Amino acid sequence: MPRLEVNIDHVATLRQARLTNEPDPVTAAALAELAGADGIIVHLREDRRHIQDRDLELLRQTVKTRLNLEMAATSEMLTVARQVKPDLVTLVPEKRQELTTEGGLEVAKNMAFLKNYVQDLKEVGLRVSLFVDPVSAQIDAAREVGAEWVELHTGTYADALTRAEATRLFQELINAARHARSIGLKVKCGHGLNYRNIKPFRGREEFAEFSIGHSIMARAILVGIERAVREMVELTRW
Ligand code: PXP
Repeated sequence: MPRLEVNIDHVATLRQARLTNEPDPVTAAALAELAGADGIIVHLREDRRHIQDRDLELLRQTVKTRLNLEMAATSEMLTVARQVKPDLVTLVPEKRQELTTEGGLEVAKNMAFLKNYVQDLKEVGLRVSLFVDPVSAQIDAAREVGAEWVELHTGTYADALTRAEATRLFQELINAARHARSIGLKVKCGHGLNYRNIKPFRGREEFAEFSIGHSIMARAILVGIERAVREMVELTRW
C-alpha cells in the first residue's frame, strides 16, 4: 500500500507572517499523524522563511511516524542533518528567490560532489532521497551517487494545461518510476499534487509514496474556516 507523507511548511509560513507562535507546525504534525499521515516533511531553507531550527528539533522529538527533512546540499545543512538525524534526508535544489522548489536536482552534472555529500550523510546512518526530474539520466545518476530513494518531480505533470499533455507527462512519470525500481531505487513522488491530479496514480504499484503539502494545507484552511469563525462568533455575541 502506498504511503502519504505530509509537508507542513505552510503552517510555519502562516506563523512567520506575524512572527508569532501560532499556528505551531509541531501541533499540525501531531494532528496529521492522528489523521493517518505516514510521515511528516519539512524543508529547512537556508533563509528560514518558514520552518525554524526549533521546529525541526521539536519535530524530531515528537514525530512518531517518519520525519523527512528536505534540504539543500550545503555544509550548513549537512551539520543540521547529522545532528537532528531525520529518518530520511531529501536533497533538493534551492534558490533564494524561488516561491517553491522549481525542479529536480541536477545530479548527473554534479556526481562527484553529490557522491561525497550522500556518503557524508550515510556515514552517520542517514537514509537519502534525491528529488529529481523523471528522466533516466538523473535517476541513473541518483543510484550512482548512492541514494536509496528518488522522489520524482511531479510539478510539470501538475502544471499540464491540457488533458493530452497531462496523460503524456503521467506516462513519463510511470516510465521513470519503472526505470528507478528496475535499478533498485525506491520511488516517491511529489510537488503540485492535489485532490484531482492524484487520481491517475490510484492503484499504480510503481509509486511507493507521495509527498504532498500545499493542496492539503489549502484545503485545511477552507474546511476549517467555518468552525473557526463560528467559535469566534460565539465569543463575540453577548
Ligand atoms: N517534494 C518536494 C521535494 C518539495 O520541495 C515539495 C514542496 O515543498 C513537495 C514535495 C510538496 O509539494 P506541494 O507543496 O506542491 O504538495
